Formats: sequence, C-alpha cells, structure tokens
Amino acid sequence: MKIETLGVIGAGQMGSGIAQVAAASGLAVILNDIEQGFVDKGRSAIAGNLARSVEKGKLDAAAKEAILGRIRGTVRLEEMAAADFVVEAATERQEIKFQLFRELDRICRPEVILASNTSSIPIGRIASQTRRPDKVIGMHFMNPVPVMKLVEVIPGLATSEETLKATWALAERFGKTPARANDYPGFIANRILLPMINEAVYCLYHGVGTREDIDTVMRLGMNHPMGPLALADLIGLDTCLAIMETLYDGFKDSKYRPCPLLRKYVEAGWLGRKTGRGFYEYR
Ligand code: CAA
Repeated sequence: MKIETLGVIGAGQMGSGIAQVAAASGLAVILNDIEQGFVDKGRSAIAGNLARSVEKGKLDAAAKEAILGRIRGTVRLEEMAAADFVVEAATERQEIKFQLFRELDRICRPEVILASNTSSIPIGRIASQTRRPDKVIGMHFMNPVPVMKLVEVIPGLATSEETLKATWALAERFGKTPARANDYPGFIANRILLPMINEAVYCLYHGVGTREDIDTVMRLGMNHPMGPLALADLIGLDTCLAIMETLYDGFKDSKYRPCPLLRKYVEAGWLGRKTGRGFYEYR
C-alpha cells in the first residue's frame, strides 16, 4: 500500500508536530481540527518552528515553503476521504476519540489504517468502534514531536501484522525510531514516566523540596534534560492526571494514585505551559 497523503486529526501541540514531520519527509498532509482558529494556530506553530530552523541555517527558505505548501488545513472531516493513512491526535477524551473513529471508519477507504496518538486509552477499545479493528493501531509520538526520536507503536488485540509493519515503516520514514509496546494501560513510555512525575509532585506536596530543588536533583543528578515538574508543565498537567487515572483504573493498584496536589492544580486551571501557569509561571 502506497502512503502519499497523511491525514492528521487535531492541530494542537501533537497534531501540528506530526503534520510537520510528515510534510518534512515529503508526504502531503491534510490537517484537520474542529475550528478554523485551531487549524490556523497549528499552521503558525509549524511555520514558527521551520522559521527557527531557517534562522539557524538548518533549512533553506525554499524548503520551508515547500514543507508548508504540502500541508492543507481543513475543518471538514470528510476530506479524510483523500488520506492514505490517518493519525488521530485529538483531545485525550475517550468519547471524542470514539466518535472520531466511528466517523473516520465511515469516511476513509476500507484499506486505510487509522492510528491513534493516544497516550493512555486502550487501542482495543478504540478499535472496537470501527469495522476495521485489524487496521487500528497506536502511534504514540513524544512531545516536542519534531525533536523527539521515539514513536511507540502499539498493536491492539485485533491489529494485523500488516498494519503493524506499515505503521513501523511510516515511523521510520518520518526519521523516527519505533519501539513496540503491547496494549496495557500507559503502554511503556507513560507507565514508567508518569509515576516518576507523580512522585515528584508528591515530593513537592510533602515539602521534601522546592520545585527548583526537585527539578535540579533530577536534571543534574540523573542527567535528565529537564526536571519532572518542568516536564509535567510541558506535557500538560491535565494530560498527566488523565494518564495517572488510566493507570490507576487499569491496574487497580494504589501505587498509581494521582497526587492530590496534581489534581488541585488541574482543578484550578493551572495546566502548565499552555495556560501560562503550572508548577512554574510562563509569560
Ligand atoms: N518544537 C520544535 N522544536 C523544539 C521545541 C518545540 N516545542 N522545543 C525545542 N525545540 C528544538 C530547538 O529548536 C532546538 O533545536 P536545534 O537543536 O535544531 O537547535 C532543540 O529542540 C533543543 O532545544 P533547546 O536548545 O531550546 O532546549 P533543550 O536543549 O533544553 O531541549 C527539549 C528542549 C528538547 C524539550 C529537552 O529539554 C527535552 O528533551 N526534554 C524532555 C522532553 C520529553 O521528555 N518529552 C517526552 C514527554 S512525554 C510524551 O510526550 C508522551 C506523553 O504521552 C505524555
């Protein structure tokens, strides 16, 4: 199966990053979101990233225009009929993803693979919304997508070997390194990362250290590129909480209980960088 046109659902942080790497690797991209404003914001984030690469001499201006020229924004989901492969990166809410997969199943050609960038919803559960569960798979990109090398590839119970191979090859075409995780809560990346972040929040909650000291310990003591609290702000505290809830619900093991302080921040609307305030303040 030839993949020339990629459909991307969701023009937020993850969707726009996926659209950028796909267009940079030569694919035509149809970038969809529910409001024109979201599509425009996604496009300008991509344009900003590419402009930075031009300034640094890593990309020439003509290549930047060519990449942008390959991305077409739309608010009409029906346009996914032209896609050869779809990656869904919409809001991390089960009912939103279920609805989208039912519609994509209706709109897309029967041979088209429908991948989800979900960070925590079981792939089998999403696949069961469609009449093509063998062609539904997890394709989990890391934030920031243009920089991070990993794509976690998650076959569900019914996903075919052919779908797995095609998804793996597409991740490689994007210049990424795929790793396989099976369909259990949090897969591999978030099963390991989020309990660490949650524990950092507990350290803050129990007054073991300040936000700066907690992050300094992990940056300089463990060589992490950023501290866990700064990373939580980058991921989004609502997303962190949603993933902890998924681990807790999925395993029914108290070691995954979300820290009350994390919940309190989310309830206050302190979601991290995207709202200007999380564990740190952003202008
Ligand atoms: N978009 C695009 N490019 C970006 C970027 C962004 N949001 N942020 C940084 N970059 C680029 C910079 O332009 C720079 O590019 P060049 O090397 O070409 O100059 C490069 O990344 C390095 O950036 P900086 O020098 O500004 O800063 P840094 O060296 O501190 O790196 C970082 C920033 C890449 C974010 C680094 O701190 C890092 O790797 N942090 C950890 C990120 C991480 O763990 N991500 C996974 C989150 S978990 C997840 O995504 C899964 C989930 O489901 C929750």
